Amino acid sequence: MNAFELYNPTKLIFGADKVKQLGELVKPYGTRILLVYGGGSIKKSGLYDDVLFRLNEIGATVHELPGIEPNPRLTTVNKGIDICRTENIEFVLAVGGGSVLDAAKAIAAGAKHGGDVWDFTIHRATIQDALPIGTVLTLAATGSEMNGNAVISNWETKQKRGMGSKLIYPKFSILDPKLTYTVPVDQTVNGIVDIMSHVFEQYFSLTTDIPLQERFAESILLTVIENGEKAIADGTDYDARANLLLAGTYALNGTLPTGVTTDWATHGIEHEVSAIYDIAHGAGLAILFPNWMKHVYKERVGKFVQYALRVWHVDPQGKNDEEIALEGIEATRAYFTRIGAPATLRELGINDEHLDRMAEEATQFGPIGSFKQLTKDDVVSILTASL
Ligand code: NZQ
Ligand code: ZN
Repeated sequence: MNAFELYNPTKLIFGADKVKQLGELVKPYGTRILLVYGGGSIKKSGLYDDVLFRLNEIGATVHELPGIEPNPRLTTVNKGIDICRTENIEFVLAVGGGSVLDAAKAIAAGAKHGGDVWDFTIHRATIQDALPIGTVLTLAATGSEMNGNAVISNWETKQKRGMGSKLIYPKFSILDPKLTYTVPVDQTVNGIVDIMSHVFEQYFSLTTDIPLQERFAESILLTVIENGEKAIADGTDYDARANLLLAGTYALNGTLPTGVTTDWATHGIEHEVSAIYDIAHGAGLAILFPNWMKHVYKERVGKFVQYALRVWHVDPQGKNDEEIALEGIEATRAYFTRIGAPATLRELGINDEHLDRMAEEATQFGPIGSFKQLTKDDVVSILTASL
């Protein structure tokens, strides 16, 4: 097992109607609030009114930044930074999905930075300070509610990049499963795939003798596979929504990578696809991940055998390791297809036009991943198999 440090300061408040605690949670940080949200789902659901009511209770002055895009854009983040500076904002409150949370984090860091916030994503600057942020999450997917990462898109340069810092962990995140009842089926599916993909990135590792981390990962996968289908069948199934929400948080809150060398190549490739085509992150991952698996499984067949047996309960009778491993990969694809996720780039209208550029960008700082280090040629192969 590798040496590691684990730090997670986010306070989770989980359960039905917990938004009523919002005022008391925000108050210690100040009353000049920037409320960040997306394209209107929170207005439709009534959450917006509820949040304003709670902020009024503490006499807060609320400025708003609506319209955060899925795949949040740098230009929108910059609008939020301007508001923070001109209005002396003390606290940034994100209400929405991962895109809203990520935009809020970038705004919080950018507001305290003298230069361009994009610098954080290209390692030209590191985050030295940030406004405190809090979140009310409405979609189970990214884990952004309990981590220090934010992913934003520069639409002019067609780049999608992440930034990370201990300073942009949310101070608190409110997770009410009922707030995810209104998530449409396609976004529920994207969330399921994203959560499973976060586990894959940390589970398919060359690190050995890590039974606890492996079983953590497998239990998250089993929970998501089972409860994902239930949540799709009935969007108002409280327990299914609650289990998905918690799984999403644990998949990317720093628990799984303790002592483990992680991969993250597929996320790197997906970010290049959505940077150019603006597709949903989960949809891109559904297409790419089984193809990544097929490309790399021979590096350590035993891990894929374990995955096939423990997660998909593949019957090993009369099969060799390679056949079992491949059956596990096929089961992954079959599940994604069963829940309605896309399997090819062409289904999303993407052809081979920018394939070389995406592979070039993904590997611009050298090979990516660790299970198998992927060169540009490897990435081209995976993207080609994904067409
Ligand atoms: O914009 P609104 O109107 O709110 O609608 C959103 C959006 O259209 C809708 N939605 C969210 N909650 C809803 C709802 N609709 C009805 N009812 C609700 N309760 O869902 C749509 C998608 O929302 P978005 O926030 O974009 O989805 P998600 O949470 O999947 O976030 C995706 C973004 O997160 C990044 C992705 O790259 C992508 O940009 N990621 C962030 C990570 C992190 N910070 O750690 C890690 C991930 O790997 C990922 O890269
Ligand atoms: Zn992801």
